[in-house]
Amino acid sequence: MTSRTPCIGGNWKMNTRLEEALSLARSIGEGVASIEASVDVVLFPPLPWITGVAEVLSGSSVSLGGQDVSPHGEGPFTGQISAGMLLDAGCTHVLVGHSERRHGLDETNTLLNDKVLAALEAGLQVMLCIGETLEEREAGKTGQIISTQVEECLSGVDQGSISRMTIAYEPVWAIGTGRTAEPTDAQDVHAQVRTQLADLYDASIAQEMRILYGGSMKPDNAGELLQQTDIDGGLIGGASLHSDKFLSIINASTTQGSAQ
Ligand code: PGA
Repeated sequence: MTSRTPCIGGNWKMNTRLEEALSLARSIGEGVASIEASVDVVLFPPLPWITGVAEVLSGSSVSLGGQDVSPHGEGPFTGQISAGMLLDAGCTHVLVGHSERRHGLDETNTLLNDKVLAALEAGLQVMLCIGETLEEREAGKTGQIISTQVEECLSGVDQGSISRMTIAYEPVWAIGTGRTAEPTDAQDVHAQVRTQLADLYDASIAQEMRILYGGSMKPDNAGELLQQTDIDGGLIGGASLHSDKFLSIINASTTQGSAQ
């Protein structure tokens, strides 16, 4: 069976001023350097801080990503940032489909699919966020919503590029609310996504794909979530703004392990 290296992302959203961002990155970089176990850590700082944070983290194993990407390569798209620009700024990763963009800015699966394809085409690794709203969960539609998001957002992603994708399951009602999915409920969704990936691609691609959980993951609930068979890491918002909390979650991912 595949043993998946845990992956922890820190999504800083629209938080931190420059000095704070640099000092947070420095503490996280130092903390990660002292962890011996294998773990992939990716930070998603606000875009203006990327080059500064990249400098602070140079030589570190911590990777950097953009919080969003344009579906377009270049041109008259005021305010948008292309995948190539992210690469030039020092990013290796990008988040696509965060619920604050799906629901706050009405981004559709079709648009997100275009973003996924543009980012992969440029050579980035993509962390695709999926998740149901509370209304959808209460209506018993979680399985259907998740399956549609996976299918539509991955449309046209071929076998050669799929290994550069990570999926983050983030129930919308758990993001920034302090409410976390029950570990077994989250596990059910992760297992469903893995089965769907086996159908869309093949069993070994499904086994190798990291599927992260996000939504109020904190040091005190990370262990129980991360010990679930199909939860291979976390996408952390609020707790990633505190290096001690973020490092504690990273440590939990290495001790719980996701290898099955
Ligand atoms: P949260 O955010 O950890 O603050 O709930 C998670 C996310 O939005 O990725």
